[in-house]
Amino acid sequence: MKKPVTVTVTGAAGNIGYALLFRIASGSMLGEDQPVKLNLLEIPQAVKAAEGTAMELNDAAFPLLAGVDIYDDATKAFAGCNYGLLVGARPRTKGMERADLLAANGGIFGPQGKAINDNAADDIKVLVVGNPANTNAFIAAASAPDVPAERFTAMMRLDHNRALSQLAQKTDSQVTDIEKMIVWGNHSADQYPDVSFATVNGKPAVDLVDEAWLDDYFVPTVAKRGAAIIEARGASSAASAASAAVDHMRSWALGTPEGDWTTIAGPSHGEYGVPEGLVYGMPCTCANGEYTVVEGLELSDKTQAQIAKNAQAAQAEIDEVKKLGLL
Ligand code: NAI
Repeated sequence: MKKPVTVTVTGAAGNIGYALLFRIASGSMLGEDQPVKLNLLEIPQAVKAAEGTAMELNDAAFPLLAGVDIYDDATKAFAGCNYGLLVGARPRTKGMERADLLAANGGIFGPQGKAINDNAADDIKVLVVGNPANTNAFIAAASAPDVPAERFTAMMRLDHNRALSQLAQKTDSQVTDIEKMIVWGNHSADQYPDVSFATVNGKPAVDLVDEAWLDDYFVPTVAKRGAAIIEARGASSAASAASAAVDHMRSWALGTPEGDWTTIAGPSHGEYGVPEGLVYGMPCTCANGEYTVVEGLELSDKTQAQIAKNAQAAQAEIDEVKKLGLL
């Protein structure tokens, strides 16, 4: 049996946390031969609820669960952490200005980035789920100068999975029949789900669906799916978000299948004209615990315009964070 790895989950008592922790403990995320020690981080008011979740984790008697500890102190929660899933965030409440939201989250992700910098294991991999995820990941990375910035990623996998599901339904196929989906950008309504390179059972997706369906149904449905879930469920996506977090980390740790790629938002190196440093969803392959952006794709003018528009909006959010003195 392998040595246990430490997985820290913030916002552990929340909705996503409740759906996520059991999947991690079952081996879905890191493989069925990898024991995990779970560190749960919560705010003091939610520690009791996290204790309840920990009781259930223990009651599930997962063979791979090597222990559960609960903290309200990031320094301790990230000690020796190999995988950090940063889910807890300050939600936008009624009447809250965008600047207030950014400031509140800067106050969470800055200190957590520093705690990771000072206490995590050398091979730390971070996934930020808490919104605004891409900006929060940028803030955490900026607060961790000793950790390579590439280790801070934001979740676009839910958007990627939503895109797979929509295309599979439209083409009467399975999600496993589809390869090379992309969702460019950030987790916002102006992201750009892109099937230009996708194949369905080896056939180009663009030959199977028409442009009107892509523009008028596929792109807005994927980009605005979060709001549609809230409208239908009366609560935001939790189980699908948790599942996507599991998929993101699993691909990063264990690799993507030969010939396929996934969407990961990591700091741009200027690929496809995206400003350097912006945490931005791009097509990536994963192998040996590293992810690599798929470069050299010939993008249509339309795709390039969408990327430029979305990158501008994402950059504006970072500029606002800087203006607020959060970096
Ligand atoms: P929730 O409100 O049910 O749970 C959030 C938890 O985080 C709460 O238990 C809260 O006490 C905790 N928390 C707040 N500040 C914390 C801190 N400083 N340290 C540790 N824990 C802290 O929310 P839910 O549904 O679990 O969603 C969590 C986040 O994930 C939200 O920001 C949501 O917008 C985001 N999200 C992101 C998605 C993506 O695709 N990137 C998809 C769905 C949700």
